[in-house]
Amino acid sequence: MALNIIGIGLNDEKDITLKGLELVKKSDAVYLESYTAFLNCNAEKLEKLYGKKIILADRELVEQRAEETILKDAKSKEVSFIVVGDPMSATTHIDLMLRAKELGIKVNIVNNASVLTAVGITGLQLYKFGRTASLPYPQENFKPESAYDIIMSNLKNNLHTLILLDLNLKEKSSMSVNEAIKILLAIEEKRKEKIFTKETLIVGCARLGGDYKIKFGKVKKLEKEDFGKGMQCLIIPSKMHFKEEEALGLYRI
Ligand SMILES: C[S@@+](CC[C@H](N)C(=O)[O-])C[C@H]1O[C@@H](n2cnc3c(N)ncnc32)[C@H](O)[C@@H]1O
Repeated sequence: MALNIIGIGLNDEKDITLKGLELVKKSDAVYLESYTAFLNCNAEKLEKLYGKKIILADRELVEQRAEETILKDAKSKEVSFIVVGDPMSATTHIDLMLRAKELGIKVNIVNNASVLTAVGITGLQLYKFGRTASLPYPQENFKPESAYDIIMSNLKNNLHTLILLDLNLKEKSSMSVNEAIKILLAIEEKRKEKIFTKETLIVGCARLGGDYKIKFGKVKKLEKEDFGKGMQCLIIPSKMHFKEEEALGLYRI
């Protein structure tokens, strides 16, 4: 009948929009995407507000078994696939939408706040951000340096860099700002191109949209800061306008 792909915002059960909530309440099945981001509350809180049982959908279910689960249900029933943040900010959800449309399923999209715009709270101007980078946990045989390259290329073009951090699925959290700093310093140690040193000015953000913590300062200061639990990201500002500097001054350490 229909697949509703609904953004549920960044913090807790109350961040869903009225439009999203109405669709969830009349759905026969509700899937919660649980591999690209987490809320600061558990699924029980969502179940209580929605009055619906929530089915957790991991990457394998969505990317490999959607035809036998979500999409099969959506052919004859009303199905909601709910996503933390905005649902159209990850390729995996765009792919699900395309597969649903291919099968002739009606798709409704409900947008919501995303980390990609929530970083505006730092005062850095959103239109001055360049390519977004992702920083994975290094593995024995996989130590990508693409985030470092993206920072370098953005800096050359006077653009800020937002770095999204890998998820720790066990902890239902993201990598911390401190872990990200360690990984980037290790890449700097190898590359020695003075892109990310102890003197670099950075912004660390945790739990945007909720009980947030933002700190702006040199790497050597932020590496000692405790950002607590929850979703975290890092920004490497480029050349700043004086208004951006003034706003970031609120978070300076
Ligand atoms: C792949 S993105 C998910 C994007 C999400 N669909 C959205 O629209 O916001 C996940 C990464 O974004 C960052 N992130 C997500 N929510 C955040 C928040 N509330 N505060 C800080 N960083 C966040 C973290 O680095 C996390 O690992």
